[in-house]
Amino acid sequence: MTAPETIKPALAYDWLTPFYDPVVRWTTRERTFKSSLLAQAGIGAGHRVLDVGCGTGTLALAAKQTCPGAAVTGLDADPAVLARAARKIEAGGEIVRLVEGRADSMPFANGTFERAISSLFFHHLDRAAKQRVFREIHRLLVPGGELHVADWGCPENVAMSAAFLVVQLLDGFSTTADHRRGLLPTLMQEAGFREVEVTRHVNTPCGTLSLFRAVRA
Ligand SMILES: C[S@@+](CC[C@H](N)C(=O)[O-])C[C@H]1O[C@@H](n2cnc3c(N)ncnc32)[C@H](O)[C@@H]1O
Repeated sequence: MTAPETIKPALAYDWLTPFYDPVVRWTTRERTFKSSLLAQAGIGAGHRVLDVGCGTGTLALAAKQTCPGAAVTGLDADPAVLARAARKIEAGGEIVRLVEGRADSMPFANGTFERAISSLFFHHLDRAAKQRVFREIHRLLVPGGELHVADWGCPENVAMSAAFLVVQLLDGFSTTADHRRGLLPTLMQEAGFREVEVTRHVNTPCGTLSLFRAVRA
């Protein structure tokens, strides 16, 4: 039996996790890209929403605040980061279900969600893991359900290309190379998604963040 792959913590090292929220806030134009992602996700009352790799819960909490009638679940493999998410969500006065688990084998039945959302997560995975997780999300969405992702994309210019090197040095070249190449849409299509599109680019101090939309066939 092969050992399970290790999970990379939110900010590469466990001891950096307490600094994750301020670092992301200051370096990724977080409010801009996460509110844009939620606007395109079109979450409605009654929707069951899954945030994959929810980390400290910022996106999951914002999803619930944006649409109180939705049932939001956040999944992450790191119990320490989920504890931070739980505190933040409680302080925000919202109810979001938090589940500890690995994104390539999530403990939910087929067709459980109308929307899957995810931010700054896929660049933690090598290509084989990305492929497994896209297939897993496809399994969990209802037919016609939508996936909305924000993550590092192909740098828009030389300055963005240079800035993205900082992310690659911190998070590793093996998991981020496909982002630099702009391969996420291809991987989504290979997992069975249709109508895959890059909807927006947001240039940040750490490189170009891209927003993606895909529909479960
Ligand atoms: C950079 S953080 C992103 C957190 C959050 N989505 C955000 O936008 O701030 C990436 C998260 O993915 C989680 N993670 C990494 N690999 C995972 C896997 N295979 N399954 C589930 N969670 C994973 C880490 O624990 C971490 O919390």
